[in-house]
Amino acid sequence: MITSKDYVQQHKERFINELIDLLKIPSISADSAYKKDMFSTATLVEKSLKEAGCTKTEICETPGYPVVYGERIVDENLPTVLVYGHYDVQPADPIDLWDSPAFEPVIKKTAIHPEGAIFARGACDDKGQFYMHVKALEYMVKNEELPCNVKFMIEGEEEVGSVNLAWFIKNNKEKLANDVILISDTGMIAKDTPSITTGLRGLSYVEVEVTGPNRDLHSGLYGGAVANPINILTKMIASLHDENNHITIPGFYDKVEELSKAERAKMAEAPFSLEKYKEALAITDVYGEEGYTTNERNSIRPTLDVNGIWGGYIGEGAKTVIPSKAFAKISMRLVPNQDWEEITNLFQKHFESIAPAAVEVKVKPHHGGQGYVTPIDGIEFQAASLAYQQTFGKEPIPQRSGGSIPIVAMFEEELKSKTVLMGFGLDSDAIHSPNEHFGVWNYLKGIETIPYFYKHFTALKKQ
Ligand code: BES
Ligand code: MN
Ligand code: MN
Repeated sequence: MITSKDYVQQHKERFINELIDLLKIPSISADSAYKKDMFSTATLVEKSLKEAGCTKTEICETPGYPVVYGERIVDENLPTVLVYGHYDVQPADPIDLWDSPAFEPVIKKTAIHPEGAIFARGACDDKGQFYMHVKALEYMVKNEELPCNVKFMIEGEEEVGSVNLAWFIKNNKEKLANDVILISDTGMIAKDTPSITTGLRGLSYVEVEVTGPNRDLHSGLYGGAVANPINILTKMIASLHDENNHITIPGFYDKVEELSKAERAKMAEAPFSLEKYKEALAITDVYGEEGYTTNERNSIRPTLDVNGIWGGYIGEGAKTVIPSKAFAKISMRLVPNQDWEEITNLFQKHFESIAPAAVEVKVKPHHGGQGYVTPIDGIEFQAASLAYQQTFGKEPIPQRSGGSIPIVAMFEEELKSKTVLMGFGLDSDAIHSPNEHFGVWNYLKGIETIPYFYKHFTALKKQ
């Protein structure tokens, strides 16, 4: 019998090259110019599932981009692990800030990754991470180490809110039936500190439009007498936080789950250096809600952030103008019990109510999703914990993350299954940013660790 560690050592070059081929296709779901690339990525993912040992694969159409499905059913009476991931990636913008082109993957050494890291959009989020599962399957199938059934569901619209996935799940409940959902689309604390993500925040994403006069005006002839939509919009946005950085939308915090002192003390035990955090971001101080630590602010507390703001003249030189319109994209990260649709409504009502009569305000909801907290006393968590202990020699630390994967709450609602989040990325991997990368060490360690989850989960399930 060959261990996953030895198998990875023997095949690592091929594993890296296969991932590089996948990273070369610009599967940007947000931009319709990449539609063809989205479909060719789905085809490549399907092929890789087949080659790794799926006995049935399918490219399932949806009203949007397809879901790639694969399965290997060993025995109906054995448990089934459903692997979820996404083959779509974020746009590469701003492309000028990349040291090498986003879709021409290169391996470079960094201080954190002396073994090298693969630089490309999607390297960590999520192509590199879901591909670990494909290669883990290959190991298990080739070496007769697959102890249970496995299904794969790799979607193409995660980065744009998984808008068609609820529809897909509702219509394919039997096909997707499982005993546990396994996802690698999050991170871990550090290479020597494995962790399991136990929570994700929910999300409400809206776009606002403020309209003043019916056309752009000369800012000398009209300035001072007519509302400037940019002035008004920025003032309205500024009023959404008070002096303690609490959000001012009435009712916003009503359902927020407050953690007990003991739970907060437990959180504070996780290794974290504020100095290193500031240094990595080149900031002299952190900033956020009064009364909470940095780790609390970015995981157990809800937030409101402007993601983009525009209007008026932004070309070269100066143009004197009062624009007719101003816009902003705003996201609210939510915590358990806050319902994203309810929060979207509260935002809309409040934002409209604070607008002066001199402008017209439109709030357009984009997408959203509920937050999620995984139990740490179930066999899913236990199996993952045992897997990490075997390959890292350490117990993983449970940690709630600030990011969102809206489908996780939907899976629980529709399929009644629990999710385990075994992420192998690092915060410094720059997901969604220029120069995204994924450590070769992390990639290979993931492939080595995942088969142990299957083994322990199947064993625990039988007990
Ligand atoms: N993989 C991320 C989410 C993530 C990253 C969670 C790291 C925890 C740790 C995912 O692809 C993502 O970016 N999600 C979006 C939400 C989506 C609705 C656009 C996000 O969190 O902004
Ligand atoms: Mn992701
Ligand atoms: Mn992402």
